[in-house]
Amino acid sequence: MPEKIRLAIVGIGNAASALIQGIEYYKDRLNDRGLLRPNLAGYRVSDIEIVAAVDISEKKVGKNVYEAIYENELDILVDFQNTMNVPVVMGNILDGVIVETEKNIKPAHFLPEDIAEYFKSTKTEIVLCLLPSGADNAVKFYANEAIKAKCAFINATPTKIATDEEFAKKFFNSELPLIGDDLQDQFGATILHKMIIQQMLDRGIDIKESYALDVGGGAESLNTIYRAREIKREIKSMSVTSALNIDAPIVAGTSDWVEFLNNKRNSMLWIVGKGFLGSEIIMDIKIQTEDGPNGGSVLVDVIRATKVAINQSAKGSIDEISAYGFKNPPISVKNPSVANNNLANFILGINRRN
Ligand SMILES: NC(=O)c1ccc[n+]([C@@H]2O[C@H](COP(=O)([O-])OP(=O)(O)OC[C@H]3O[C@@H](n4cnc5c(N)ncnc54)[C@H](O)[C@@H]3O)[C@@H](O)[C@H]2O)c1
Repeated sequence: MPEKIRLAIVGIGNAASALIQGIEYYKDRLNDRGLLRPNLAGYRVSDIEIVAAVDISEKKVGKNVYEAIYENELDILVDFQNTMNVPVVMGNILDGVIVETEKNIKPAHFLPEDIAEYFKSTKTEIVLCLLPSGADNAVKFYANEAIKAKCAFINATPTKIATDEEFAKKFFNSELPLIGDDLQDQFGATILHKMIIQQMLDRGIDIKESYALDVGGGAESLNTIYRAREIKREIKSMSVTSALNIDAPIVAGTSDWVEFLNNKRNSMLWIVGKGFLGSEIIMDIKIQTEDGPNGGSVLVDVIRATKVAINQSAKGSIDEISAYGFKNPPISVKNPSVANNNLANFILGINRRN
């Protein structure tokens, strides 16, 4: 039996809810449907153990994390059995909440916990950062606390941490793994967009213009439209254009928040290309996904791969994991199957640099 993976989650929102539910859901070893990798280097999803939880919302702080997740938009789909009591502790608010979203997230009136000490006392090995987009100061704060507590750090937010040379150096010098930035979904508009355009290019179609715009109902969509629209648009658009090497105008991003969609996201894809004799091909596609679970599937792989990195004493930016699971990794790999192979080689210990 492999040892448990001791995980702290910072930000008990929809992505955290999906992850925590997934750990319970996949406890039944026969049920591995919906997973990219049921077994990763001998680790099952249920080998992940939540040992620490941090938030700042008055609805979540002080509650057991398994109850706190009920305060999100994502429905609770599993029946928790024999779970530990992991009370959510008060974090450092910094820029975690903005005026426009305060109606939905009211900060609790507690003094912040000493976060590095908390990670140490809970014997946390990996800190997973699931703060809202644009909370740059808060994300940096928790990354520094992870270093103080000698923990690996996974940044699922678009804040530049793994792609920041200073942070990469700090983690390297502290002999700790660093992974990020901006989590990639299991299957969403960005992947679909890239796949379709790639196929059209392979068939000789000249891409003229394209967009992928989405509206969502989760807290993160609301937060994005107020303060992270630009960076999200830049990362998502770059993720499509840089992977495909085309110069047609491509726009990808979040355009609005519609409360009744809850944690769902509707993405509209528009693609115009020209074929033989300049004949036009126009595509207008809609896809609906659910944010939390869509990220959860990649998170369980990234967390287990980070445990492998710890076992291998890998330090600094772990590019193979970041390129596999993130939209904005320090070194991107255009072809997803190459990223998959690189991760598999990393897990086997092939081509390690340190
Ligand atoms: N599919 C996905 O879920 C997906 C995909 C890509 C990226 N991401 C990224 O993951 C992150 C989390 O997404 P989400 O949908 O769970 O967001 P969410 O808004 O549902 O949850 C964020 C949580 O962070 C808490 N928080 C805010 N400030 C804090 C602070 N200073 N300290 C501690 N906690 C604080 C909030 O109270 C809330 O519980 C976002 O940055 C998002 O861009 C998610």
